[in-house]
Formats: sequence, structure tokens, C-alpha cells
Amino acid sequence: MKTVVGISGNVSRPSKTRTLVSSIVETVSTRTGFAPSCFDIIDAQPELGTSLYRGNTPGPLTEILIAIETCGFLVVGSPTYKASFTGLLKHLFDFVDMKSLKDRPVIVCATGKAVAHGPKVEQHFRMLFEFFDARVAPQFIFALDEDFVEDGRPGDALLQRIQEQVSNAEKIGLI
Ligand SMILES: Cc1cc2nc3c(=O)[nH]c(=O)nc-3n(C[C@H](O)[C@H](O)[C@H](O)COP(=O)(O)O)c2cc1C
Repeated sequence: MKTVVGISGNVSRPSKTRTLVSSIVETVSTRTGFAPSCFDIIDAQPELGTSLYRGNTPGPLTEILIAIETCGFLVVGSPTYKASFTGLLKHLFDFVDMKSLKDRPVIVCATGKAVAHGPKVEQHFRMLFEFFDARVAPQFIFALDEDFVEDGRPGDALLQRIQEQVSNAEKIGLI
């Protein structure tokens, strides 16, 4: 069965970014019937942070890398750190086989506090997935603190943007 896999670059929990990524994954799964799964950087710890090279050890890091490389659809998000995605998220993708994401449909998103940093994170994501030759959705979702309600769930306006983004991805044949 095909899968839609979400990867979130958050390094602490609870996480707005992981919530955002999960919501997009659920929306894509509902539309495609692909089996959903979602991971964050903490799921890959401590192995990710202590590894300089990819090994084949059994455990969450290998499971996450295989999930990324074999998925039918990828959703990737990160908290904004210094106007980019988190360093550990890049470290995770440094281990991904360089040919495995060719033509893979991808939706990218981020959370942050400064509106002006949204386009910068988007740029970094586009450069990364251009390297992998993946097919990235033209729209980017950048969510601020106020886009989430008190218990940390995405608010109605953000959920609406997610629906629109997934629908647009469908219209251009990405889904
Ligand atoms: C080390 C660090 C660096 C950050 N740098 C930025 C930044 O450059 N621009 C920005 O808009 N927000 C920045 N933030 C705020 C986070 O991106 C924001 O709080 C994010 O929504 C946290 O996501 P999370 O709940 O998934 O951890 C930074 C936060 C931390 C802890």
C-alpha cells in the first residue's frame, strides 16, 4: 500500500510544526487513500544527533529513512530557526539516498514567529528538494502562533489553507 509520510523538524514537544505536518498528512491521506504516518526529529533521537554516517542499525532512524525513501507522498515541515529549517532536519535528509526522491510529490510547510522569515524557509526547502529532483507543490504553508488555537490544534483559517493547498496539489496532478 502507498504511504503518505510526514516529517517534522521540531526538536521539542508539544510542537506546532508536528501538528501542522500531521494535519496535512491526514488531509492527503483522506484524498488519496494512502496510509498515513508521521515522524519528528525526536523520534529519531538520540541516534540521529550522534551519527555522522548512515548505518543500517535496526531502530527508529533507519525506519524513518526507509519510510521517506519509499513513500508515495511526502510532507515536510520545520519550525523556523535562524530563518531556515532546523539543522537536525537537514542532517536527517543528508542521510536520504540522493536518487530516492526523484519525481516524488512533496508539500513543504513551516511555523515561525516572524512573517518575513516564511519566504526564506521556503527558499531553503525548495533548494533542498530541487537537489533531490522531487516535485514540490507550488504553495508553501507558513503558520504563525496565532494560527493555532489554545490547545495547540490548527485554527479554522489554517485548516482551510491546508485544504486549499492539498486541493491545488490535486488540480496540478501532484496527487
Ligand atoms: C533556536 C530558535 C530559533 C528561532 N529562530 C526563529 C527565526 O529565525 N524566525 C522565526 O520566525 N522564528 C524563530 N523561532 C521561533 C520558532 O520558529 C517558533 O516558535 C516555532 O513555531 C516553534 O515550533 P514548534 O512548536 O514546532 O517547536 C526560533 C525559535 C528557536 C527556539
